[in-house]
Amino acid sequence: MNKLYLGGVIFAAFMLLFTYLSVSSSHGGFNGDIVNMLAVTGAIALVMISAFVVIKYVRQMQTDKASGDLADENWDGIGEFKNSLPTGWAVMFLLTMTWGMWYLTVGYPVNSYSQIGEYNEDTKVHNEKFEAQYKDITGKKLVDMGESVFIAECKVCHGLKADGIGGRAADLNHRIAAASVKHVLQNGSNNQLLGMEMPMPDRNGLINATTSMPITDAEIEALATYVSKGLTGTVGADVFAATCVMCHGADGKGVDSMGPNLKEFNTTLVTNILSHGKKGSIGTMPKFDRLNAKQKEAVSAYITSLSK
Ligand code: HEC
Ligand code: HEC
Repeated sequence: MNKLYLGGVIFAAFMLLFTYLSVSSSHGGFNGDIVNMLAVTGAIALVMISAFVVIKYVRQMQTDKASGDLADENWDGIGEFKNSLPTGWAVMFLLTMTWGMWYLTVGYPVNSYSQIGEYNEDTKVHNEKFEAQYKDITGKKLVDMGESVFIAECKVCHGLKADGIGGRAADLNHRIAAASVKHVLQNGSNNQLLGMEMPMPDRNGLINATTSMPITDAEIEALATYVSKGLTGTVGADVFAATCVMCHGADGKGVDSMGPNLKEFNTTLVTNILSHGKKGSIGTMPKFDRLNAKQKEAVSAYITSLSK
C-alpha cells in the first residue's frame, strides 16, 4: 500500500480512537444515548472525509503538472498562468458584496438580536409582575421590603446602620447635618429634590427680609445649627423665619413646588433623590434607575422610618 494511504489510515484510526475515548470517558459512555451516538457517527464521518480529502489533494500536489499560457509578468522567474475568473466564484463574490451591504445598512440595524434589548424587555416584564404583585403592600411590609433593598443596594456606602460610615455618605438616621446645610447655603443646590429643575439659590440670592441684605456668615452658622437640629432651639430661628419660610414653610416641612422638607425624610424626597442622585458637601450619591417604583417607595419608607 502507498505510504500516503497508510499514513491516512493510521491518522483516521487515531482520531477515531481519540473520539471514542473522549466521548466514553468524560460523558459516561454511550449508554444507549441516541444523541451521543449520532454525534459520534458524525465525528467518524468527518474524520474519514477529512483524511481522504487530504490524501487526494496531497497526491494531486505530488503528481500534477502545470499547463496553460503564462502571463507576461514574472517575479524572479516565478510566473503566473492566465486563468480566467471562474464564473461561480465571481457570482459568489458579487452576491457576498451585495449581502454585506444589505446586512450592514439594513439587516443588522433593523433585525438584530440584542442581548441588552432582551435583558431590558425581561426586566420590564418582571417589574410589571413585581409591581402588580406588591401593589397594595403598605406599612410594616413596605418598610421590610425597603430594608432588604437597603441592605442589597445602599449599605455599601451608608452602612448597615445607615449612619454613613463615619461621614463617607449621609447619615440617614438624621435628616440633615450642619455641614450639608452650610454647603447648600454657600453654593445653592440643584439636585432636583422636588423632582424637577427647581434650584435653591446660593447665599447671594437669600435675602434676609429683616435686614434686606444677603445672609451673612454669622447667619449661615446660626441657620446650619437650627436646621440640623430639626428646626428647634432659638439660635437661627429668626433668620429662618425671615429668609427661608416662603419656600420651606414655617415648620420647615416644605412647600409644594417651592422647597423640600428640611425637618424629616419623606417618600417624595427620597424617591426624587433615588431618581436623580444627589451632590453635596459629602460627595456624590449615584441615581438608582435600576430600582423599580415600588422598590424606591419601599426603601424611602424604610429611610423615613429610621429617624422616627
Ligand atoms: C426660593 C425658594 C427657596 C428659599 C428662599 C430657600 N430655599 Fe432652600 N431649597 C429650595 C429648593 C427648591 C431646594 C431644592 C433644591 C434642589 O433640588 O437641590 C432647596 C434645598 C435646600 C436644602 C437642601 C436639602 C437637602 O436635602 O439637600 C437646604 C439645607 C435648604 N434648602 C435650606 C434653606 C435655608 C436654610 C433657607 C433660608 C436661608 C432656604 N433654604 C431658602 C428653595 C428655597
Ligand atoms: C456609592 C455610594 C452610595 C450608595 C450606593 C448610596 N448612597 Fe445615598 N448618598 C451617598 C452620598 C455620598 C450621599 C451624600 C450626598 C451629599 O453630599 O449630600 C448620599 C445621600 C443620600 C441621601 C440624602 C440624605 C440627605 O440628608 O440629603 C439619601 C436619602 C440617600 N443617600 C439614600 C440612599 C439610598 C436609599 C440608597 C440605596 C438605594 C443609597 N443612598 C445608596 C452615597 C451613596
